[in-house]
Amino acid sequence: MQALTSVPHMLHGCDYNPEQWLNRPDILAQDIEQMKQAKINCVSIGIFAWAALEPREGDYQLDWLANIINKLYANGIYTVLATPSGAKPAWMSKKYPEICRVNASRVRELHGGRHNHCYTSPVYREKTRKINEKLAERFADHPAVILWHVSNELQGECHCPRCQAAFREWLKARYGTLDALNQAWWTAFWSHTFSDWDEIESPSPIGEQLIHGLSLDWKRFCTAQTRSFFENEIAPLKAANPRIPVTTNFMAFYDGISYWELAKSLDVIAWDSYPAWHSRQDGDETYNAFWSDAFSDMCRSMLGKPFLLMENTPSQVNWQSVCRPKTWGFHRLTAIANLAHGADSIQYFQWRQSRGCAEKFHGAVMTHANRTDTRVFREVSSVGAMLEKLDGLCGAKTNANIAILYDIESHWAVNAAQGPRNGAIGDNELMLRMYLPFWKAGYAVDFVNSEMDFSGYHLLLVPMLYMLRADVAKRICDYTKQGGTVLLTMHSGVVDEHDLCYMGDTPAEGLAALAGIRFLEIDPLFDEQHETMRIVKAPFPLAESYRLERLCERVAAEGAEVLAVYEHDNPAMPDDLPCLTRSSFGRGTAYYLGGFAEERFFSDFLISLAERLGIAPALDTTLPSGVVAAARHGADGTKYHFVMNWTPEQKAVNLPHPLKDIETGKVYQNKLPLGPYGAKILI
Ligand code: GLA
Ligand code: ZN
Repeated sequence: MQALTSVPHMLHGCDYNPEQWLNRPDILAQDIEQMKQAKINCVSIGIFAWAALEPREGDYQLDWLANIINKLYANGIYTVLATPSGAKPAWMSKKYPEICRVNASRVRELHGGRHNHCYTSPVYREKTRKINEKLAERFADHPAVILWHVSNELQGECHCPRCQAAFREWLKARYGTLDALNQAWWTAFWSHTFSDWDEIESPSPIGEQLIHGLSLDWKRFCTAQTRSFFENEIAPLKAANPRIPVTTNFMAFYDGISYWELAKSLDVIAWDSYPAWHSRQDGDETYNAFWSDAFSDMCRSMLGKPFLLMENTPSQVNWQSVCRPKTWGFHRLTAIANLAHGADSIQYFQWRQSRGCAEKFHGAVMTHANRTDTRVFREVSSVGAMLEKLDGLCGAKTNANIAILYDIESHWAVNAAQGPRNGAIGDNELMLRMYLPFWKAGYAVDFVNSEMDFSGYHLLLVPMLYMLRADVAKRICDYTKQGGTVLLTMHSGVVDEHDLCYMGDTPAEGLAALAGIRFLEIDPLFDEQHETMRIVKAPFPLAESYRLERLCERVAAEGAEVLAVYEHDNPAMPDDLPCLTRSSFGRGTAYYLGGFAEERFFSDFLISLAERLGIAPALDTTLPSGVVAAARHGADGTKYHFVMNWTPEQKAVNLPHPLKDIETGKVYQNKLPLGPYGAKILI
């Protein structure tokens, strides 16, 4: 696989906002020298620079930008060129108020902030297209420009009259007739039947929020509208030079729109990683680390190739409740972890702290002190030096045999439903609970959505797939029939793509028959309550019992072997109610888990299952607690091993075979010592 851009090196970069310093040529000159010292090889420029690029309507001022791009390039620094639509200039909002968003309560916002334009407004689309055309005209063939960074962290929704009209058009295209829409949305309920398209309004706290099909379609529409806005942005860029890839930066697990849909318009996935590091007294960072790595794996899975880490802080952020800086040596660990999970870059927000406004206390490579002899600067430079030795890692693949099916539309639906557990149904938690043991033990995991092909994986995990879209159930059945192993769970196969409950046995569409069970009832628990699952027939070594929380689904075994039952004190309740079952289906096996099990269950069960299936971890060894591993495979056949210690303690890893430290060249025969928060890349 190739590098993600024309640069065959790992990228080490940062958001750079020279427009804040145009009256300080001394600072701009220092920037370049300091960037070279920090081994920065690319910068993202132009994000939020619209007011400097078009200070008055139609008055395009691109010379300052050209100057800076040229100077950077002359010094070996590439440009990731941003389009400025993430923040609109004040003159534009004043002249064209339609570009300002209307919130869900139907109030038009004033100018201010950022990330708050109307995606539908023809004026905003036109202004965006024009400025992008100018940028493309001037820079699309500039050898410095390696990537388009389109807008910034696309998010949110607009409820203005134009968006309402566009929503109705989108619905007409989807349903054809109002009858079909009324049927799909089940609007006879509470007399919510629509008799005219114009009666339909987006969900609102002062209006409709309880037609689930409407809420779901609104999210789909917002996704489609964001994507069409994005397509409008990239049209002039691609027309000028189709060889420059386009990306935009994602936020971890943001669920306002479907990133999976938006990914279809991207050449490269990029994301911004900001875990709340150092929030625990014991210094154990595994919780934060696994959350960030899970989203990295998701990003890598979306296009089946590495991604860019577009932003992370070199020290601290300014928006968490407590903004702790990464502690001594910790930045290197986070950088290595990102590379381990598929990043082909380490980029920062931000190069230099601003003097004023919202982000003046956000961490940066250069702080207000404007010195390079700081700890942060040193740590950033040494990550730069490490990346310089990693050309072979560019484009390196992750060969995952395990997939977790995550469907954002199902996530939207299950969280919008009233009942059986309001507020914390826990679909994402269940997904992460399945991911965690593999992350700890060094098994590669991909995430797939309902539309993606999962037939090649050895193990498919399907946590709470509440909504079954199109033919996904059939594909799960085919996958299993052909020899795959699948784990299904509670509260799956409940509704169709309109969020209408399936009639008949569930999980629907053949999944009940696949698992050899049938849904009876679901018993949600309060936060402080739990039940117990007792293992009655262990397919491989398991504990006697495990704790259950949140959701206990009772099922009848109809052909499945019962592996665990619910333990309870109510004598009137049968004591053989299955909680975990196994069923053979064609050449494969389907497991069904009815109870929301504790972490320990997943680590005991899933790791044994993976071993049974012959799936190998990155390193064939038992890792000490708090130490994790991952691997990537370079185009030349080199296997890169990444070993990370997320604790402040000294650790040692037993190596199954000698491995060489890529930075120092030292060969470790059978013991790899790792200092506090230490990390190594070994081949
Ligand atoms: C986001 C934005 C950046 C910056 C950082 C601060 O990721 O994209 O512009 O505001 O947050 O952490
Ligand atoms: Zn709008």
